[in-house]
Amino acid sequence: MDSKLLKLKLDNFRNLENSILEFSNTINCIFGENGNGKTNILEAIHFLVNKKSFRKNTSFPQLISIESEKPQILFSSLIKYKENQSTYSGTFMPDKSIWHLDNSPIKRKLDIHTVFINPFDSYAFHTTPSFRRDWFDTHLSKLDKVYKSNLTKYNQSLRFRNTLLNKKPADFKNQIKAIDLQLAKYSVEILNARKKFILELKDFCQNTFKSIFDESHDLEIKMDSKFLNNSYEEILKCYEENLEKDIIIGKTRYGIHRDDYVFHFDGFNSYEYCSLGQQKMSFLSLIFAYIELFRYKLISYPLVLIDDVSGELDSKRWKNLINYLKEKNFQVFITTANKNFRDELEKIDEAKKFFVDNGSIINL
Ligand SMILES: Nc1ncnc2c1ncn2[C@@H]1O[C@H](COP(=O)(O)OP(=O)(O)OP(=O)(O)O)[C@@H](O)[C@H]1O
Ligand SMILES: [Mg+2]
Repeated sequence: MDSKLLKLKLDNFRNLENSILEFSNTINCIFGENGNGKTNILEAIHFLVNKKSFRKNTSFPQLISIESEKPQILFSSLIKYKENQSTYSGTFMPDKSIWHLDNSPIKRKLDIHTVFINPFDSYAFHTTPSFRRDWFDTHLSKLDKVYKSNLTKYNQSLRFRNTLLNKKPADFKNQIKAIDLQLAKYSVEILNARKKFILELKDFCQNTFKSIFDESHDLEIKMDSKFLNNSYEEILKCYEENLEKDIIIGKTRYGIHRDDYVFHFDGFNSYEYCSLGQQKMSFLSLIFAYIELFRYKLISYPLVLIDDVSGELDSKRWKNLINYLKEKNFQVFITTANKNFRDELEKIDEAKKFFVDNGSIINL
């Protein structure tokens, strides 16, 4: 069953004033001008659920309010969790954090997930192959623990192989041959999982794209891999054949760590062909497709955190996006600094609306 965040109280979190936020089970809109604390609210929710920020290199010193008198951040919440209403709270200090579920200490993370959508990711996804790889690896890992474990083992073996190629210690060629057996084995497993993931996403992606953005266009995501249809033996042979060149260059040039993913927009490569708005629609469709697949596989929706995605989209797409969110049962927290997008969000009767003004949160 879906988990929900019902109430949240924060103390000493960034610029947010201590207040209690009561959320809707469905749509929550957070308005406010630039630099007032909208993203900070999403970050606090992300921290509560994942015990970490979505911003890189962010820890206690960045998160504690610069005005705090005591070096601790307090999170208190009421959640719907595994059919019950529970309290979940945390104290985050410089060297540790302590969490309680219904007043009992809890070490592991809650079994709640979040999906965070921010305005920059569409651009990064379209321009940076390593971002695309990371996106697929992270999201597939959440759905498939075996994949995650195979990927970790593959990366460990790859790092070892590269160290050998770089340092060339005595007898390194025999060591590499042994590693290649491992790499080829994990490659087959990883490739199969990736192909399955893309196939599973395919219909969801097409549907979300059509319903949110455009009936008249098609979107498909495809994988681009040197080893796409290769067997274990063929992959192993490729490593063998390329070993001498790898030795000269000092690293492994081929492998599933170089795989890439391509959006096909009406059959064209969207990186080369699409407008910024179309690229954003494609990326959002992929994320919403992932959310649907997540629900299908894990029987519960994640909490969806959407940090101002209104840029580049026209008002027709805003309306479609809002209608889509209204139809769905997931809990969503959506921010905007855009006056016109806010006007559209204001029309959602069932949504809770908040206004953030210099860290002070006002219920609308
Ligand atoms: N540790 C901190 N203590 C106090 N204030 C902080 C802290 N960290 C960040 N801030 C303040 O938080 C504000 C930024 O908040 P946030 O990123 O949530 O803004 P936003 O409303 O999302 O703005 P935008 O619309 O531009 O994205 C800045 O004014 C910054 O000075
Ligand atoms: Mg922001």
